[in-house]
Amino acid sequence: MDWGMANRINRIIKPDTGRTLMFAVDHGYFMGPTTGLEKLDETVMPLLPYADSLMLTRGALRYYVPSSVDVPIILRVSGGTSILNKHMLHEGIAVGIEDAIRLNVAAVAFSIMVGADYERDTLLTFTKMIDDAERYGIPTLAVTAVGKNLVRDAKYLSLASRLAAELGARIVKTYFCDDFERVIQTCPVPVVIAGGKKIPEKEALSMAYQAIQTGAAGVDMGRNIFQAESPKAMVQAVRSIVQDDFTVDQAFELYSDLK
Ligand code: 5RP
Repeated sequence: MDWGMANRINRIIKPDTGRTLMFAVDHGYFMGPTTGLEKLDETVMPLLPYADSLMLTRGALRYYVPSSVDVPIILRVSGGTSILNKHMLHEGIAVGIEDAIRLNVAAVAFSIMVGADYERDTLLTFTKMIDDAERYGIPTLAVTAVGKNLVRDAKYLSLASRLAAELGARIVKTYFCDDFERVIQTCPVPVVIAGGKKIPEKEALSMAYQAIQTGAAGVDMGRNIFQAESPKAMVQAVRSIVQDDFTVDQAFELYSDLK
């Protein structure tokens, strides 16, 4: 692996633990000012010290995040639909690789709709983005299993994750599920889990813990952090699991104390 590609991946997935806490706040590209991100800078800045990387759009980066930050950026580069559109997540390339380079990102993130009506064109634009990113030593993170009416079981998630890796993704983001080992053991690149819709804090911590125990490289969590009763306590509790091997009870106790 070229030095630059390895360095970018190592900035995201910390070499000493092989894990990462990605803080995801890219939701605005199709959800607009979703709850908790109305004033994105006020949400993000207090939590950044506890995140290993930050996933967001180029607009959020330029308009809400000061250029003085030292956190590795994972840039959301797919888009093209909104929650108002019945064909939600029929995404294409929304950011060219040149602007990603200009923004000095550590990785680009692209959603693929495996099993959806428009799977072919999302997969082909995904591979176009990979070709462009690889040319400059930038890793692509595949965002899988997004969209409605999906059965997020191990069979589907292992298919989508392996397909993404075979097409060239360097990191795969998917969801936790029963028999998650099957997803981890059949995917040749690091896998992180999205948090998904907001659930009670202890359940979210348990999900993160189970994923880590199963071999996930970490989490790419958004709503379960920025919609928590205390986001600053929650990001630290999630970090305690991802990077410091806390148990669920220890992490929830930390959350409760910090809250
Ligand atoms: C939004 C995304 C988010 O990055 C991903 O879903 C992680 O956020 P959350 O934990 O809120 O699901 O891809 O489309």
